[in-house]
Amino acid sequence: MQYTSPKGTFDILPSVLQEDDQWKESARWQYLEEVMRKTAADYNFQEIRTPLFESTELFVRGVGDSSDIVNKEMYTFLDKADRSMTLRPEGTAPVIRAFLENKIYSKPGIYKFFYIGPMFRYERQQAGRYRQHHQFGAEAIGIGSPLQDVELIDMLCELYRRLGLKDLVVQINSVGDTSSRSAYKEALAQFLEPRFAELSEESKVRFKKNKLRILDSKDPGDQQLLEGAPVLSDYLTSEARSHFQEVLRGLDQLQIAYQIAPKLVRGLDYYHKTVFEITANVLGAHNAVGGGGRYDGLTAHLGGPDLPSIGFGSGIERLLQTLMKQGLPLKNALHPFAFFIPVGEKALQECFQMTSELRRCGIPTEIELGGKKIQNALQLAIQRHSTYALVVGDEELATNTVTLKHLSSRETTRCSFTSLLCTLKTLHAHG
Ligand code: HAM
Repeated sequence: MQYTSPKGTFDILPSVLQEDDQWKESARWQYLEEVMRKTAADYNFQEIRTPLFESTELFVRGVGDSSDIVNKEMYTFLDKADRSMTLRPEGTAPVIRAFLENKIYSKPGIYKFFYIGPMFRYERQQAGRYRQHHQFGAEAIGIGSPLQDVELIDMLCELYRRLGLKDLVVQINSVGDTSSRSAYKEALAQFLEPRFAELSEESKVRFKKNKLRILDSKDPGDQQLLEGAPVLSDYLTSEARSHFQEVLRGLDQLQIAYQIAPKLVRGLDYYHKTVFEITANVLGAHNAVGGGGRYDGLTAHLGGPDLPSIGFGSGIERLLQTLMKQGLPLKNALHPFAFFIPVGEKALQECFQMTSELRRCGIPTEIELGGKKIQNALQLAIQRHSTYALVVGDEELATNTVTLKHLSSRETTRCSFTSLLCTLKTLHAHG
């Protein structure tokens, strides 16, 4: 019996054989995470880590029961005490739960958080959709200013710029405040009611649960029906309209290009006013590398004080796939600097101790412990992209020396045991 990873999941591996799978290499993930952490720090977002599972009720109430996530995609199970638990399908509801539970709002501060981690959605299997995917997400809680929206979009765009992503499109819309949405839903209902029978089955359900989501339909028939439908932006209250104008003005000021997408509503029920999505054409059908929006009202809905908030989530798989398609070179892969090759038992003892000393000085060091013949061990050192091979055989033992072989220039020198540490420290410091 051979075990395989569950459908819709994958392993992140030290190296992969297939070119198409190179985005799964762990060094690429580490690089991305490093840039994400640095970008978050530059915008003063602090890390928050929440459990991978929460009570099911949190997502039903937080994300909303008209969303696809809650309706079709949750990994829900009963624990041994018959409590319904769900593997987190997204990060916003857990962050708000943690924020409220720990009463973070009672301490003065700027509440800006980021997270990096896996999310679980029982998706139909298709390219770009995984059952375990990973997100870099950020949430800014407590500030209703449109400039908070701009700051967040700016941070996401800056991350993409630092990564070197090209040809991205920022799509933005406003779904208005509660009264904008109820006025619009009524107008949309009046428009669609006589055409109800022609709607797709999914949109018929959305008609009953959340009419706004019909705008999101991928069905060409629905999209045709929607031609001539009332437009959301005509129903914004003056407050919602001026908030949106201020956001656009802020984006203009920071020279962030965007497209207004009048039908963008996003699939989670908590959105309020600004919504946005950033897409990459190279990805095909599921091309959103990131998306988010304002969700004023959620903190109160989850039992806390009413605090305006906004956030985004960006899919790490999709970012890496886009970067690969755009030719990202592999950065910061792990390579040893020194690779010890001991010949014989006595040499092994000496080299083992020197390996430990070099490592304690912060020099990445490997040692061949398997008793390989010297030529094979040298091959291994070359394969592992080590800078130096350090050979110790009988001759070296007799003179208390190590032979240092620079593996790309093939230059060879000798160095005494006592000066090895100092020599390698200098060589390592100089690159
Ligand atoms: P979302 O649009 O559902 O938003 O997910 C955010 C991003 O995660 C997407 O743009 C996409 O890049 C990636 N993603 C989502 N599902 C999958 C999947 N099955 N496979 C691969 N990648 C995927 C949220 O989750 C919100 N919590 C974002 C947010 C934060 N809004 C406000 N604050």
